[in-house]
Parts: sequence; structure tokens; C-alpha cells
Amino acid sequence: MSRIVYVNGDYVPEEEAKISIFDRGFLMADGVYEVTPVMDGKLLDYPGHVARLHRSLDELQIANPVGDDELLKIHRELVRRNDLDEGLVYLQVTRGAADRDFVWPQDATPSLVLFTQEKMLEDSEGPKHGIKVISQPDLRWHRRDIKTVQLLYPSFAKMQAKAAGADDAWLVEDGFVTEGTSNNAYIVTKDGTIITRNLSTDILHGITRASVLKLAAEAQLKVIERPFTIAEAQNAAEAFATAASLFVCAVIEIDGVTLGDGKPGPVARRLREIYIAEARAAAM
Ligand code: PDD
Repeated sequence: MSRIVYVNGDYVPEEEAKISIFDRGFLMADGVYEVTPVMDGKLLDYPGHVARLHRSLDELQIANPVGDDELLKIHRELVRRNDLDEGLVYLQVTRGAADRDFVWPQDATPSLVLFTQEKMLEDSEGPKHGIKVISQPDLRWHRRDIKTVQLLYPSFAKMQAKAAGADDAWLVEDGFVTEGTSNNAYIVTKDGTIITRNLSTDILHGITRASVLKLAAEAQLKVIERPFTIAEAQNAAEAFATAASLFVCAVIEIDGVTLGDGKPGPVARRLREIYIAEARAAAM
């Protein structure tokens, strides 16, 4: 089934969508993106995703291609035209087309592309059974707080995980876990404290992370934001990951070491339930 996608002002069948070969997103990964989950045909955590988009654009001095009202309209129109009940809206803004040069143009017209992806989010397999991760060195650039489309290394690390029979890789730098290839990483200590790396340029400031930490505090769960090691994670009571595409997903094995009884633990399960209920209630 062909989707209707959005490209620079037009809604077109995906086969007809075109971007210049000189687009700097294509030549230099000079662009940023967002992924917003959709349930019941509505957008989850949308204000957070738009706020982070603005921040990413500002950090890279890429012009904002559309106003906020228009951007929300485009998201909703794509969900409507594709009859999307559950899945994701992917958005990408690149600096635009210009003759290839390491010096970026000051006056390029940014490109805006959006498309939908159908995906089971609530009942997906990973979160149901928990996922296995392996550790890999974090070889990405050091502005991971900007959501750029330079995803070759995360993709490479995830392929390493798949080759090792795992589902994802947790990236490690200077002995400490930064985050997953496309998700934020957490452990739960034996006394029930949730630990996740503090925000800095070392990790993406996850929108799901922000929502989940707020909900954890409201549920009187203790949270400490600090780096942790793989060894500490292997000794934890539980581990989990968060992302727009996962919500909250238990991690049941780290580098071959099974956590607890090898099933999603109570804290991860509870946070997943609370998150889905709250995000759904606030969906737009
Ligand atoms: N990835 N860390 C990284 C490196 C990510 O790529 C993502 C999201 C997250 C979680 O952020 P959020 O909760 O805002 O989705 C953390 C998206 C889902 C992706 O690339 O598909």
C-alpha cells in the first residue's frame, strides 16, 4: 500500500516524492529529525517533540521551514490521509540544496519531509518479553543532544547486536553507559531506585524520558540522574529503555547476563502502563 507523504508543501504518493541530489541532508547528513508516536490516530508527547525540533534547528542554525500551527496541521493531515491508527510520524528538516561545500550556505531553503509508519506500539513484542542488549563502544560525535540524521554508527552498532543474537546495543564511553542506539537507558537498583544518565551533550534528551521521569516522581519512585556502568547494570534488579518507538521497554539481558528472572520487572511494567495511560489521555 502506497503512503501519502509530505515533501516541501505537497502531499504526494511516496513513489512521486522527490528531493534534490544536492540536498545537504543527502550529501552531508546536514539535517535533524523527530519521531512522534501515534495512538488512536492522535499524536503523543507532541509539544515535547516540537520543542526539541526547534532546539536542534537552532543549534545547527538551520532555518525553521514552517510555523508551529502549520507543522501540527501537517502531522494531523498525514495521519488522516494515511488512516494511521497506531505508529509513528517521522519528520526531517535538512539545510536544503546547495552546491557541495563544507561551508554551509547561509541562504539555503530548508527541506521538510514527513511520512507515517504503521507500527504496533502498545502490544509490540519487545516490550512484552523484554529485550536483550550488548554493550558497544560509543563512537558517535559529541553533540548527541542534537537529533541529527547522522545515524550510521547507531545503525552499525545495532547490526552488531543483531549479529550477536541481541536486540539492541547500549553504548559505552569512558566506562559508562551513555544510551541505547535509539533510546535512553535506565537501571533499577535492588532497593528500587531508578538510575539514568544525567542530561548533557553526551545523550539525546529523550522526550519519553522527560515524561517517564515526571511520572516516576509523581508515583513516589526515587530517581537519580547519573552515569552507570555495564557491571552495575548487570547487578541491577531491572533495566529498561525509553523512546517514542518503544515507550518503556524492559531490558532482560545485558552482555549475556540475565537480569532477575529474565522477565520484564515490576518497575518497568508499571512505568510502561502509567506512561501509556497518561500519554494517551494527553494525546492531540
Ligand atoms: N530515537 N536516544 C537516542 C540516540 C535516540 O535516537 C532516541 C529516539 C532516544 C529517545 O528519545 P525519544 O524518547 O524522544 O524518542 C534516545 C527515535 C525513536 C528514532 O531514531 O527512531
